[in-house]
Amino acid sequence: MRPNSLSSLSISTRRLTLSAIAAASALLAAPAVWAQSSEVNIICSAQAAWCSMIATTFEKSQGVKVNMTLKGSGEAIAQLMAEKANPKTDVWFGGTGDPHLQAAEQNLSLEYKSPTLPKLHEWAQKQAEQSGYKTIGIYSGPLGFGYNTELLAKKKLSIPKTWNDLLKPEFKGEIQSANPASSGTAYTMIATLVQLMGEEKAFEYLKKLHTNIGAYTRSGTGPIKAVARGETTVSISFVHDGPGEKAQGFPIETITPSDGTGAEIGSMSIVKGARNLAPAKAFYEWALTPSAQALGAATLQFQLPSHKETKVDPRVPDFKKIKLINYDYAKYGQTAERKRLIQRWEREVNSLPK
Ligand code: G6P
Repeated sequence: MRPNSLSSLSISTRRLTLSAIAAASALLAAPAVWAQSSEVNIICSAQAAWCSMIATTFEKSQGVKVNMTLKGSGEAIAQLMAEKANPKTDVWFGGTGDPHLQAAEQNLSLEYKSPTLPKLHEWAQKQAEQSGYKTIGIYSGPLGFGYNTELLAKKKLSIPKTWNDLLKPEFKGEIQSANPASSGTAYTMIATLVQLMGEEKAFEYLKKLHTNIGAYTRSGTGPIKAVARGETTVSISFVHDGPGEKAQGFPIETITPSDGTGAEIGSMSIVKGARNLAPAKAFYEWALTPSAQALGAATLQFQLPSHKETKVDPRVPDFKKIKLINYDYAKYGQTAERKRLIQRWEREVNSLPK
């Protein structure tokens, strides 16, 4: 589960790799351009180590105090909606793109056309265009399965290779997924299945899957961390979260379903009515630079970065080898659609006995 304040990130910060520290030191050489009194309030929906690193590095290099809160994508948009009349957040960094598009539709985020836009991959630019320039793609990553190699062998289970493989009776209680109300990862799963199978079949599938689910976690990374630590055998997760767990010595591998899967466009938005607009824009521009984006891999986060010149770590999933659906971000980022699908899941799936 995510800690919810920057102070609780100190342990993960201490564990940062040498390469992360080297990358951060390089950025520290940048001149401080803001008065010490400047501050920026950021909700970060990526993993704690990365959030912590960007907060520390931006703070030290730009002289802007960063107040950072960690929240899953679904929880982040709920907070922005609650704060609408009196925003306390300036920037929302990371998390799946669908709720960022929802924030744009609800006028919770500010229209801002970054001069860096042409230097980003097409998918990141498209995310900006379809939101009326109220959000922007900062990374992308495909959805798939994580599995604990030792548990799988011990329980004599075979690697799940398709969505239907997860329905096999031998996986009963062995699978974790996140809850789509709080987690953008889990919403991406539902939207992916609906696009892959058609809505009725997808809900039939989700009902059957429910009987094999041991637990629905609050955060999207909960299931893959449970797999890594041997608390469950299989997870439905973004596969770019696997190599970071493996690098810490856990017996984990990932796979994407051969029948097709979706991908997220991790996004960033400036909050409409942000109290600290100038530092918010400075953070936004900084976060799009290749050196800031490299802090992801430096903290063992292996999404594909959106700036074309950001060095791509070999552990970033190779999209060319994955059967990706043509995910309709505009449709599944709509408030009504997201709300409807999550409510249907609550009503027809989550309420069922296991
Ligand atoms: C992890 C992944 C990110 C993703 C995020 C979504 O941090 O590494 O790529 O955007 O989860 O989190 P959520 O809790 O909303 O599923």
